[in-house]
Amino acid sequence: MFIQLNCFNYRLFVYFAPMEENLKYSKHIFICTNQRPANAPRPSCGEEHGLALTVAFKKAINDYHLDVPIRAQKAGCIDLCESGPTVVVYPDGVFYGNVQLNDVQEIVDEHIVKGRPVERLQLKFKRA
Ligand code: FES
Repeated sequence: MFIQLNCFNYRLFVYFAPMEENLKYSKHIFICTNQRPANAPRPSCGEEHGLALTVAFKKAINDYHLDVPIRAQKAGCIDLCESGPTVVVYPDGVFYGNVQLNDVQEIVDEHIVKGRPVERLQLKFKRA
């Protein structure tokens, strides 16, 4: 968006980039790979194929050869351990729970490529 400013006898045009244009990635996927010891009081996504999910997301994205910058990467605990393995997609702020390897292609096809989050895997939160 350009804004015109009149300053003394000069016209200045200032460009303000919309928020989306300041994002490095059009979709940024964080996959929890946190690993706790087997006897820990809480489960951990790393124990539940979190790392394999990361590899699967990277492959599914690369297979599309998309023109837009998308990144999938390992993440630490998202504090939704009991709903794991967990994945979050930004800038949408969509959280997925109990993600299995055979869910990856659907998330990429529907959400990442078509922009339609996968409802059946989505974790819902109520804000206080
Ligand atoms: S270990 Fe994955 S959300 Fe906590």
